[in-house]
Amino acid sequence: MIVVGQAGRVTEEERANAARIYDYMLGGAHNLGADREAARTLLASFPWLQRVAWENRAFLRRAVEFCVGEGVEQFLDLGSGVPTVGNVHEIAPGTRVAYVDIEPVAVQGARDLLAGVPDVTATRADLRRPADVLAAEGVAGLLDFGRPVAVLLVAALHFVAPDDDVATVLAAYRAALVPGSLLVVSHGSADQDDPEIAEAMRTITAVMAASETPAYSRSRAEITRLFADDPGLELLPPALVDVAAWPEPDDRRAPVGVYAAVARVV
Ligand SMILES: C[S@@+](CC[C@H](N)C(=O)[O-])C[C@H]1O[C@@H](n2cnc3c(N)ncnc32)[C@H](O)[C@@H]1O
Repeated sequence: MIVVGQAGRVTEEERANAARIYDYMLGGAHNLGADREAARTLLASFPWLQRVAWENRAFLRRAVEFCVGEGVEQFLDLGSGVPTVGNVHEIAPGTRVAYVDIEPVAVQGARDLLAGVPDVTATRADLRRPADVLAAEGVAGLLDFGRPVAVLLVAALHFVAPDDDVATVLAAYRAALVPGSLLVVSHGSADQDDPEIAEAMRTITAVMAASETPAYSRSRAEITRLFADDPGLELLPPALVDVAAWPEPDDRRAPVGVYAAVARVV
């Protein structure tokens, strides 16, 4: 049985955790035996999962580069994960970056990596509590919310349960942002044109649902509405597409079942 946990203290006996499984799939070193075992079990059934992780991370890179091109010099990376490869402050050197994650290993890994790096912080907080996140020293003490900020929610919102009202969570972050700020989202979904990808995403969601870090699939329409229903947001082209097809399709990148979109605060 795959056990995916989210405990506050990590030992070798610790159960596997989604953040560290993802780290392993990306080739990182911040994972334990239980994480590697769980990752190998998942990969044995779904070898393409490794590509999902890489395509999502590659989307993060392209989106951060886009934000920099738009003149944004500050990032709030929510559900930032274990700092494996291609972290925001490395993609966008010279910017201010506040990393936030709920998982202690992710936050400790970020702090280890960031020792001595100026204008970058790592905070342990729950992204479902925007008021706490925005008031945290690592966020409020670093980012100037009087200037544009890019809020990144990359492969993180599918861990927010329907009961936690993701639209309200997003609205609270958007309310803190000045026009010209950007919202970057990627979200796994079983609502796919390709039946094989849809089936695989359903299975993954079922595996995760039985774990301690459940993931929730939202339909394409539900994810689009997170942007479209907010008059304070302008969904930028190409609107909601697979991460592999953002900002434009590329024959070398097949869809992986994770949707992506970027919106501007207006
Ligand atoms: C799949 S990883 C994505 C990491 C990174 N954003 C990326 O796309 O490469 C999801 C991360 O979200 C974090 N996470 C899940 N629920 C969270 C919450 N309520 N608050 C903060 N972080 C959360 C997990 O700990 C994990 O590190």
